[in-house]
Amino acid sequence: MRIASFVGQKGGVGKSTLARVLAVAAARAQHKVLIGDFDLEQLTCVEWAALRLRNGVEPEIEARAFKSLKKLRKTVVGYDLVVVDTRGLADELTEDVSRESDIVFLPTGTSMDDLRPTLALARKLSKTRTVGNKIVIVLSKTGRSERLLEQAEATIAEAGFDMLNAVWPERDGFQADLDLGRAGSEASNPYLKKASQDVEQAMLTLAMS
Ligand SMILES: Nc1ncnc2c1ncn2[C@@H]1O[C@H](COP(=O)(O)OP(=O)(O)OP(=O)(O)O)[C@@H](O)[C@H]1O
Ligand SMILES: [Mg+2]
Repeated sequence: MRIASFVGQKGGVGKSTLARVLAVAAARAQHKVLIGDFDLEQLTCVEWAALRLRNGVEPEIEARAFKSLKKLRKTVVGYDLVVVDTRGLADELTEDVSRESDIVFLPTGTSMDDLRPTLALARKLSKTRTVGNKIVIVLSKTGRSERLLEQAEATIAEAGFDMLNAVWPERDGFQADLDLGRAGSEASNPYLKKASQDVEQAMLTLAMS
């Protein structure tokens, strides 16, 4: 069983969204996938999965709330992939989750306001030797400026961290689809569908290999 987690020090950077995008990609590729939702205040993924079920969106995606990774490890069997979503704040759980995961995605915006805390967390997590090489930074909710994107990529490369080789572009339409229980390439708009395919494939490849 593979575990792919989304962690961060910032709220609202797309952790829960990318967790759902990856879960959808895995399910559509015939993997048995579960979302472990550790954000017990918001339960974003659990709520979304229920909405998805109510709206009859196929394939069905299971999401369950968990308080600790130990509990998840003990109770969850028979899945190919568990996608872990966490709160927008780095705490003890962040370190636990990162140690137990096969891959740790850190979504971040392109601004220094977002990059600074993200890279600080990446450095902190890298102090645990086994975690360092699992960290992948994902440029998330990116705008249309090529210059900002290039600057952000240079900053991440300079800090010595791996980056997903696709970005998650900011588009209003993704929100409407999330509100219907869909994610990523399940978008009804063909442009949004196309915009999410690269990031989906890039995350899925890393998560399953
Ligand atoms: N590519 C995108 N384009 C536009 N809006 C997006 C995109 N991705 C996510 N959003 C929206 O941005 C908001 C924050 O996203 P999300 O909930 O995934 O962030 P988060 O990191 O999980 O936040 P939190 O730290 O509060 O858990 C949501 O309203 C979501 O619908
Ligand atoms: Mg969230």
